[in-house]
Amino acid sequence: MNKKIKQEARQLQQELNHHSHRYHVLDDPVISDYEYDMMLKRLIEIEEQYPELSTPDSPTKRIGAPPLDSFETAAHSIPMLSLDNAFDDADIRNFHKRSVKSLGPDDILYTAEPKLDGVAVELRYENGVLVQATTRGDGTTGEVITENVRTIRSVPLTLFSKEDQVPSLLEVRGEVIIHKADFDALNQKRLEQGEPVFANPRNAAAGSLRQLDSKVTATRPLNIFVYGAGLAQGINFKSQSRMLSILKSLGFPINPLIQTSISLEMVLSFYKELEKLRESLDYEIDGMVVKVDDITLQKALGEKIKSPRWAIAYKFPAQQKTTVINDIQVQVGRTGTLTPVAILEPVSIGGVVVSRATLHNKDEILRKDIRIGDTALVMRAGDVIPKVVQVIVSKRKGDEIAFKMPEICPVCKSRIQKLENEAAVKCINASCQAQFKERIKHFVSKKGFDIEGLGKKSVDQLVDERLLHSFADLFSLKNEILASLDRMGEKSADNLVAAIEKSKDVSLRRFIFALGIDHTGENAANLISEHFPTIEDMMDAGKEELENIHGVGEKTALAVTRFFQSRENRQIIELILASGVTPHNKRKIMDAAQDSIFLNKKLVLTGKLETFTRSEAKKKLEALGAKVTSSVSSKTDFLVAGKEAGSKLAKAKNLNIEIIDEAELNKMLQ
Ligand code: IVH
Repeated sequence: MNKKIKQEARQLQQELNHHSHRYHVLDDPVISDYEYDMMLKRLIEIEEQYPELSTPDSPTKRIGAPPLDSFETAAHSIPMLSLDNAFDDADIRNFHKRSVKSLGPDDILYTAEPKLDGVAVELRYENGVLVQATTRGDGTTGEVITENVRTIRSVPLTLFSKEDQVPSLLEVRGEVIIHKADFDALNQKRLEQGEPVFANPRNAAAGSLRQLDSKVTATRPLNIFVYGAGLAQGINFKSQSRMLSILKSLGFPINPLIQTSISLEMVLSFYKELEKLRESLDYEIDGMVVKVDDITLQKALGEKIKSPRWAIAYKFPAQQKTTVINDIQVQVGRTGTLTPVAILEPVSIGGVVVSRATLHNKDEILRKDIRIGDTALVMRAGDVIPKVVQVIVSKRKGDEIAFKMPEICPVCKSRIQKLENEAAVKCINASCQAQFKERIKHFVSKKGFDIEGLGKKSVDQLVDERLLHSFADLFSLKNEILASLDRMGEKSADNLVAAIEKSKDVSLRRFIFALGIDHTGENAANLISEHFPTIEDMMDAGKEELENIHGVGEKTALAVTRFFQSRENRQIIELILASGVTPHNKRKIMDAAQDSIFLNKKLVLTGKLETFTRSEAKKKLEALGAKVTSSVSSKTDFLVAGKEAGSKLAKAKNLNIEIIDEAELNKMLQ
């Protein structure tokens, strides 16, 4: 074989590994996907012709190897222990006290890490090359899943280190996870292909790692964060925090939220921050792991049989509980969709009493075989509507009742229709009171006209008492009428009238969203508002013009044109405009923003601001073309940090995002 080919293969392997790390670990690619694919194609060609060049660290190994008959097992050089659990601050303080008692000084520093809800693995690198990957197994012996782990793009196949500093042996430990969005997409695909769905991202990750055919694993969106080491030779770690930064420089993904070398009090406040952050993270965590930072101290504290004395897991309260389904009722939504809802024996989940859970549709009930009287596992996660995860069949007594979808609308009693290719059934009576109430609630909601003080119960009452017949009637509601509603005094009626008045100054984007047109959510409303200068232009647009807006699909275009073909809908919009509603358009503002430094920049606001409220700051920035979002990611351009900024600030620092304080913001705004 000629030397040139050998050199070319080695260079391609190194370059591809480098770019894969930039893309999957650093989230900062410097070449296009196309260029990457071309390089990989060339390397595959070479390796096919000269198999001896296909080294174990070649990026071609990421696509999977021939299937296995079964997994081999391998003993861990050092057992993979589990962790004791803490459930409240007192448990953590006790953990600290025990450590102090055994070590002496009370100023122990800790590293606090998110407890990742995935699958633990160990990766063994010999002379810098990944040679073996194993599951945790029973802690002593695990299954060998090397080929599967090689397909995980964020796992380095070779360590990034200078040749003379490569450790002769390094076992790295971490958690394989699947991001929430990837998990949803994976399950969606499985549904479409008639395959069973995974219950949660952890199960999906575990199932993917246990494939005998690594080509299947290669199609699964697996990721890794590493947090520890097993046996190491030729490398020495003094503390958990040093270890993490060394692992990072060797090419491993380290969780960006980890707090290193912090005091006990900071550990406790980090837990609270993590709890708040939990929902917004794009991967699942189930608590925090606290580790004594100094490895000499770790050794002094030692281990019990199953768990170390130098670390503890502070778990989040459970998000799932079991309870009884007392009834199944049917709710009619804004677009007429009938949704079965489980009426539950009230149960407290994560500090909130849950008494209803959505059952989505008839097919979901059939699939999960949910019956009235069943005991079920119910989940509540943050703002997400509670749902029934599964029923516990072993608790059945035999008198549970199967649910039947009604054949008429439970509210207006008119005929219902099953939509082609959809699991949903709909009430098709456009004047169904239930639908109308929901449309009004949507219209006045935070993302729509944002009329503060007009609650769901008041809307129900206004409709029931025939005081509201269309969206337009909202803008002529009088104080006296409002004051006569239940739970509404004169003062709140006055406030409500003022809020209605204020809402008339609305963006075109919110106006469109509020109308509740089918297939026209926040995103579509935004895209459409960017295209048309006024609502009138939008009303007169044809399906084709709408479809041509980048990002607007055929369904939306059709729904919007249908909506405005209705004379009644057009009349209502005219009445709304006549009552003084003046939708303003970002497009006009954008013209003014052309030279702004904030144009198209992504900003996050955090902490307390003094010269304006957060929403004022947001408005000002948006008027200058900025996109203000709520969570920090590598795509964020600036973080505006007010007083007492917490986890977002920490995350932004970790991601090297430009941080500006309020004074600087004011300067920039001028
Ligand atoms: S350290 C002896 N750190 O939790 C140290 N574990 O109950 C043990 N886990 O099997 C592991 N995130 O799967 C550690 N940041 C983290 C973790 C973490 C999740 C899992 C891991 C382990 C289990 C221990």
